[in-house]
Amino acid sequence: MKRVLALLGSPRAGGNSETLAQAVLRGAEKTENTTDMIRLNGMALGGCIDCRKCWSKGTPCIIGDGMAEVHSKIHEADVIVFATPLYWYTWSAQMKPVWDRFLPFMHEKAEWDLRGKKAVLLSTAGDDKPDAFEGLVFSFRTSCDLLGMDHADPLLAYGVYKKGDALKGKWVTKAEELGKSL
Ligand SMILES: Cc1cc2nc3c(=O)[nH]c(=O)nc-3n(C[C@H](O)[C@H](O)[C@H](O)COP(=O)(O)O)c2cc1C
Repeated sequence: MKRVLALLGSPRAGGNSETLAQAVLRGAEKTENTTDMIRLNGMALGGCIDCRKCWSKGTPCIIGDGMAEVHSKIHEADVIVFATPLYWYTWSAQMKPVWDRFLPFMHEKAEWDLRGKKAVLLSTAGDDKPDAFEGLVFSFRTSCDLLGMDHADPLLAYGVYKKGDALKGKWVTKAEELGKSL
């Protein structure tokens, strides 16, 4: 049994990323995993301030904001699903600070790290060609490699622009299958 955590980076409640993230979690539950989701939108999540004071107060980061909860839940999870709409060919503004704030996991005094965890990229885009995700996939793969996370094949749902588009076609089935395979 694995603990699967989805980080939802869309500001649109019930939007395409949420529809597919829920489908991944449904699939994961069918294979006896436990699941949880954090809605990043609306949480106080500042960017990294490069103070190099990670772990100096016994916690990953000295900034006392919503990232404390995200850090803890990530530490407890075996699988992390990064669910983001494609915004300007990269992460949404809700998801980007999460990556920036992964610096404590690489710090020389790190008490927690991400090595061996599985990372899954789930993204949605209005563009009708999958190469729209190239920049995002590069960022995801290289960052995972640096952090020592394993990465599964991403689910990249293209041609989904309006709310509800992810319900059309094959995307929900693919997302459930992905969830079952975690
Ligand atoms: C600010 C903004 C930037 C976007 N940038 C892109 C983009 O670069 N490429 C693309 O294909 N779609 C882009 N889109 C469309 C979204 O990726 C698409 O509507 C997606 O399905 C939204 O997912 P959601 O319903 O989970 O929020 C953008 C949408 C917004 C609001």
